[in-house]
Amino acid sequence: MAASHRKARVRDVAFCRMIFIGVLGVVLLVLLIRTKTFIDLVSRHSTETDESGLAHNYTLVSNKNLKLPRQNEFSISLEKRNQMPPRNLDLYPRLAKNHVVIVLYVHNRPQYLQVAVDSLSRVAGISETLLIVSHDGYFEEMNKIVENIKFCQVKQIFAPYSPHVFPNSFPGVSPNDCKDKDDPAKKKCEGTPDQYGNHRSPKIVSLKHHWWWMMNTVWDSLKETSQHSGHILFLEEDHFIYPNAYRNLQLLIELKPQKCPHCYAANLAPCDVKLRGEGWESLIAERMGNVGYSFNRTVWQKIHRKAREFCSFDDYNWDITMWATVFPSFGGPVYTLRGPRTSAVHFGKCGLHQGQGETACIDNGVLNLEVAEVDRVPNIKSDWGVYVYEHQSGYQAGFRGWGGWGDIRDRQLCLEFAKMYRASG
Ligand SMILES: *[C@@H]1O[C@H](CO)[C@@H](O)[C@H](O)[C@H]1NC(C)=O
Ligand SMILES: *[C@@H]1O[C@H](CO)[C@@H](O)[C@H](O)[C@H]1NC(C)=O
Repeated sequence: MAASHRKARVRDVAFCRMIFIGVLGVVLLVLLIRTKTFIDLVSRHSTETDESGLAHNYTLVSNKNLKLPRQNEFSISLEKRNQMPPRNLDLYPRLAKNHVVIVLYVHNRPQYLQVAVDSLSRVAGISETLLIVSHDGYFEEMNKIVENIKFCQVKQIFAPYSPHVFPNSFPGVSPNDCKDKDDPAKKKCEGTPDQYGNHRSPKIVSLKHHWWWMMNTVWDSLKETSQHSGHILFLEEDHFIYPNAYRNLQLLIELKPQKCPHCYAANLAPCDVKLRGEGWESLIAERMGNVGYSFNRTVWQKIHRKAREFCSFDDYNWDITMWATVFPSFGGPVYTLRGPRTSAVHFGKCGLHQGQGETACIDNGVLNLEVAEVDRVPNIKSDWGVYVYEHQSGYQAGFRGWGGWGDIRDRQLCLEFAKMYRASG
């Protein structure tokens, strides 16, 4: 109530200022456009210029030796759109000093996304930060949900090389592609089969491509985040976030250097996504999980240095790729710090998973999940010790991968993503 009164008043004042700001904005814009003409912006010439013969003015790519697929107009327009400033700057002009940027990566499950976004809207502290929604493909229903977000600054980015954006050429399906277990020599088709003899499926490889493109773009390219010195939290469209998630995460990040100096990350949820935590009076260090993980730039640099391992491992899952090749190459266990009660839950569709009951699932847009009172407020204590899970089971070095990532074109594209924003190599 109080908040809505205050909002109404703020709106009145804002309206009075609007005309002035509007005029100022137009003047600035004109100045900006004129100035731009004289500035030699770093532009990408590697993929040549487009049909009109004009170089693109919007990418920050400076590497001239890239071998990215030739973009269609739609892909180019998405890349342009990625340069747009965040929305809601009028409502939240400033980010808090110690904000943790949140990146939500999504594909096309609007029902799920709505649940994830609704849960985020109730997270204490969310208005202090920037939410980046990274889209794999372009879907109106997904856009609508993101455009309606009013609880913090929001920026949308779209993977311009998503297979979903290329209807009849690589990275999408091209007419000459081998299918299933085709023999390229006999069928005279294009493709390299994976270790199990299967050819690429664009729909399936798009997940790993998106994750890798997003990581590279968020850390190394976006104006809003490429200088960010703190942690970035990564979420997916099928994650439910508890109201205490953000404050708990800030605590974990603050405690990490003393409590667990060898931890690489801070997590909102246990590595085993079926678990909700131990409920002990203790912090937990365990292997890094794939729900609600956050880390800083130092860790990203370490991951980026393993681009070759990431891109050549024959598994279409980004997370299994990390567990089986990237993390083991760090030369020691890769721990993450988390609380004893989960602050995020991975949900799925009811009936698709085994062992119902404990599993959070969604039916007709309704999630069967109760948030207990203790999980609505920060529930991590700074005087707690740390319990370390050693020798946890799970995917690790030696696992050969589930396949689906055998095509040299996919491996090449993946490597290009790693070079995209780097001046050399
Ligand atoms: C790039 O900038 C130049 C000069 O401002 C402009 O003429 C041209 O249309 C721009 N090209 C694109 C693709 O936006
Ligand atoms: C980032 O996190 C790592 C692992 O927790 C830590 O060793 C490093 O000092 C941190 N870097 C910065 C710049 O805070």
